[in-house]
Amino acid sequence: MKLGNWHERWQIRNINFHLSQVHPDLIKYVSELTLPAQGRCFVPLCGKSLDLEWIAKNLGHQVTGVEFSPIPIQEFFSEHNLTAHRENQQNHVLYKAQNIEIYQGDFFSLPSTLNHQFDWIYDRASLVAINPEQRKDYVKKCTSMLKEDGKILLLSFHYDPESFEGPPHSLSKDQIQKLYGGAFSITHLAETPISMGSMKDGFHAVYKLSLLK
Ligand SMILES: C[S@@+](CC[C@H](N)C(=O)[O-])C[C@H]1O[C@@H](n2cnc3c(N)ncnc32)[C@H](O)[C@@H]1O
Repeated sequence: MKLGNWHERWQIRNINFHLSQVHPDLIKYVSELTLPAQGRCFVPLCGKSLDLEWIAKNLGHQVTGVEFSPIPIQEFFSEHNLTAHRENQQNHVLYKAQNIEIYQGDFFSLPSTLNHQFDWIYDRASLVAINPEQRKDYVKKCTSMLKEDGKILLLSFHYDPESFEGPPHSLSKDQIQKLYGGAFSITHLAETPISMGSMKDGFHAVYKLSLLK
């Protein structure tokens, strides 16, 4: 899907991926990552997820998101009664309030100053949202942003790819192993059946990825 189409989905409110609650698997599994007390978290393709605020408030972490459409970013700050400071950067507009900042623009053109800055990445419906041919670049970029012993909490979907076109694009355990296995140890934490549209044999899965030394 093209970036402009994502923005259009926000304009016409075709945003069934947006949850009106904090993702239960974030709350349930984040402790598996054994994160530092004052960590820094990166949330790729963040939308206006309530999880951003939960991470900032409940874990006390600094949160950095990236989102292409300005609509969810503005809604996020106003819905949380936060006044964001805006700063124009080379390829992005950076919105900041308290310990949450969101880059508005393309994930793939985030500045290299963000390399090696994050203790962990929270990926919910993000790797599965990008076009499959961009997965390798996505994984390379995420990996470059982590500190030495960085972790990823990955919430993804897999299903019979013949039954549904996506997004979300099906992402199997083997595909995750191929994409991340060279640099990370991967722990499969959970798997639950789901049904969405014409999707057959759909599952929601949770993984912990730990950067190898
Ligand atoms: C499936 S939604 C997931 C949103 C969020 N992770 C959540 O849990 O609600 C994908 C989001 O990524 C944004 N997006 C897609 N491609 C992007 C890109 N290359 N850079 C920045 N944002 C992108 C879309 O606008 C959309 O809000």
